[in-house]
This record gives sequence, C-alpha cells and structure tokens, in this order.
Amino acid sequence: LNIGILVSGGGSNLQAIIDKVECGYIKNVRIVTVVSSRPDAYALERAKKHGIKGICISRKNFSNIEEYDEALISHFKGFEVDLVVMAGFLSILGERFTRAYKGRVINIHPALIPSFCGKGFYGIIPHQKVLEAGIKVTGATVHFVELEADAGPIILQKAVCVEDDDTPETLQRRVMEQAEWEILPEAIRLFAENKLVVEGRKVKII
Ligand code: GRF
Repeated sequence: LNIGILVSGGGSNLQAIIDKVECGYIKNVRIVTVVSSRPDAYALERAKKHGIKGICISRKNFSNIEEYDEALISHFKGFEVDLVVMAGFLSILGERFTRAYKGRVINIHPALIPSFCGKGFYGIIPHQKVLEAGIKVTGATVHFVELEADAGPIILQKAVCVEDDDTPETLQRRVMEQAEWEILPEAIRLFAENKLVVEGRKVKII
C-alpha cells in the first residue's frame, strides 16, 4: 500500500508512522511521498533523514482551492498513492480532493470528536478549550476525511487524562505521546490489512 503523508509542522506524527513502518509493525506499506504546506516544516527534515521524498506544495502558491486540490491530486496520482494521511496538516482540502480520494484520506485530530472539532480547532487550540472548560478527559481521534472539517466516520479514539497543573502545552504533549502517536499508525495498519469496514457513519474493525 502506497501512502502519501500531508504535514505542516514538527512531524512528530510522521515520525511515529515512519518508526512503526521501519520496525515492521506496519507491514506492506510504503511512504512514497511527504507533502508539506510550509517550506520550513521540520517534518520535511524527518522525511529526508529516512530517505523519503519530501516536497512543499503551499496553498498560497495557488489562486484558489480548486487549483490547490488539483495540484495535490496530480502529485499523489503520480506516486500511485492509495491512502492519504493528514499528520498535523494545517491547510484545508477542498471538495475535488476529498471526492478524488473518498474513503482514502485519514486525519488525526487532537480531541475526542465531536468535541472541539471543525474550523479553527487545530494544534494547541483544542487543548486550550479543554482546560478552559475544566474537562477531565480529552484525547485524540483518527477519522476518515470528508468535506466538512473533522466530521468523517471515526476510526479510532484514545482518551487521555487532564492533570490539575496542565498547561495547554503539557496537555498537547501528553495527548501526542499517549494517543496520537499510537492511534494514527494503528489506523494505517488496520487500513493496510483491510480491517476497516465503513457502514454509513460508523467504522467497524473486523
Ligand atoms: C499537533 O498539535 C497534533 O495534535 C496535530 O498537529 C500538531 C502537530 O503535529 N495533529 P506534528 O508534530 O506536526 O505531527
């Protein structure tokens, strides 16, 4: 299975995927391309260190979402990508892209959907909202991507406890370490082993 990974920042989720592929936990998967929305993303450095071709395809170089979608579609088709993984990707994918790759795009969201999801809830923001609301349990979600942000069928979730002395940064770190870096590679493994069955809004793991 050829996977293409979309990144924008540090690439710690990318690293978690690379590690699980290299140690053989995820089998029959090849990371054929890493695409960053920003030229300075450390994620591109991580890809390079592991001999994976990285490229920056930035939204600001395109006059509209349709052209951006087309650029991404032709890039991934060129690499015969079977599954697109959004790993800390901060740009928006349009209708053309999500239609072209329907059922073959997954995203990691740093909260338990439907909490704190949708437009504007990315990076550190969900964790700030969790602390403001005095919530005791948060976590991360891997879901299939559909047009509406963070709203596709849920594949995996993992809960993480909020500590009394948490700051948004310490909470984000724990959610990444204890949840994101585990469930995103796991979702890829399940997809690669054809263990995910989508029934309407639900995903069954067989
Ligand atoms: C993190 O906030 C993570 O929760 C979200 O994207 C951000 C950066 O992740 N998914 P990464 O280190 O670039 O993978």
